[in-house]
Amino acid sequence: MRNKIAEKMLEKKDMIFEIFEFSQKRIREVGEENVYDFSLGNPSVPSPDSVSETIHLLLDELKPLELHGYSPGKGIADMKNAVAMHLNQKMGAHYGPEHIFPTLGAAGALAHALRTAANPGEEIVTFAPCFSEYEPYTAGAGLKLTIVPADTEHFQIDFEAFDAVMNPNVAAVLVNSPNNPSGVVYSTETIMTLARKMREKETEYGHPIYLISDEPYRDIIFKGTDSPYIANYYDNTLTCYSYSKSLSLPGERIGYLAVSPECEDGEMIMAMCSQVSRMIGMNGAPSLMQRLIGRIEGQTADLSVYETNKNLLYDALTSYGYSCVEPGGTFYMFPRSPIPDSMKFCHDAMKEDLMLVPGDIFGCPGHFRIAYCVPTQKVKKALPVFRKMIECCQE
Ligand SMILES: Cc1ncc(COP(=O)(O)O)c(C=O)c1O
Repeated sequence: MRNKIAEKMLEKKDMIFEIFEFSQKRIREVGEENVYDFSLGNPSVPSPDSVSETIHLLLDELKPLELHGYSPGKGIADMKNAVAMHLNQKMGAHYGPEHIFPTLGAAGALAHALRTAANPGEEIVTFAPCFSEYEPYTAGAGLKLTIVPADTEHFQIDFEAFDAVMNPNVAAVLVNSPNNPSGVVYSTETIMTLARKMREKETEYGHPIYLISDEPYRDIIFKGTDSPYIANYYDNTLTCYSYSKSLSLPGERIGYLAVSPECEDGEMIMAMCSQVSRMIGMNGAPSLMQRLIGRIEGQTADLSVYETNKNLLYDALTSYGYSCVEPGGTFYMFPRSPIPDSMKFCHDAMKEDLMLVPGDIFGCPGHFRIAYCVPTQKVKKALPVFRKMIECCQE
């Protein structure tokens, strides 16, 4: 018998990649310079030189068996030490290497966090708008995903709606800040309220409720944004990080799961991670990448273009009449669609060779996502098309 979950997923194929494929077709037809593709969250800045320099050094210094061998089940010590030290210095945390588990990007970290924090049949609560891949991630682990409707005024958390969905079957709450697709960063007040409510629910239900914090955009924060380190506010936090965006290394599949030193059963969760790797056939993050991070942890690509693009787009779009919550980080923006049907709006935009993603796939219809991880010149050239799109809706 074929797997029913994967088969059902075919009905809802990855819409973002379908839009991207259409964009590639249009590029072949009309030329790259005439297509405005804001559909994919692929970093647009190169990795820092230190990435290739360090890889060369590692290739020279280490023996092939060390470089390319299986890594230990719990990860390579150099990376675990470097990550713990960095988090302690930058976030005021107090991790040891024993709290860090290297993974295949944030996706790999989430695969481990979900399977250590919950059993099949249990529930994960998350908040709209949310990353569309949370559905397959949770379905693949046999978990039920409940999406709390969005606070569309600020894209913080609608706590009344959160209270309404909480129940004893909830094993974990999954947050993503800075957020894909809104670009919004949860404020200290939001995190403190969430932490307080979750602690109350833990007492009421008599079991831990883990906070899974998905943070691949943690290093893309714009000036003046309040960006609390979430694990500092809630003991039972499992932090999922990735170097895909901060070092522009999405193809290398490297990230980590950090289990808070205060986490209930944290030692057990760390031990279980190696077993989860066996369960899902994802043993050990790439050795070379772990060694690289061991040497350059704390560095990032030059991420400044994302803030430049955000400022340009936000100022222009709001002046044309779009309504939008200003992003505090990431390379995404999530304006309200000028017409209620955001699928139609994005479809109409495609006819102008402007590729946007409808909010429907992020659990928040009536909006659209702009991934502005593109050259600034492209943003400037696309502005008249954005203007034309809203003017057409106003006619
Ligand atoms: C919110 C969010 N979580 C997780 C991921 C997966 O990250 P990675 O590719 O590093 O596994 C992404 C990737 O775009 C993302 O946007």
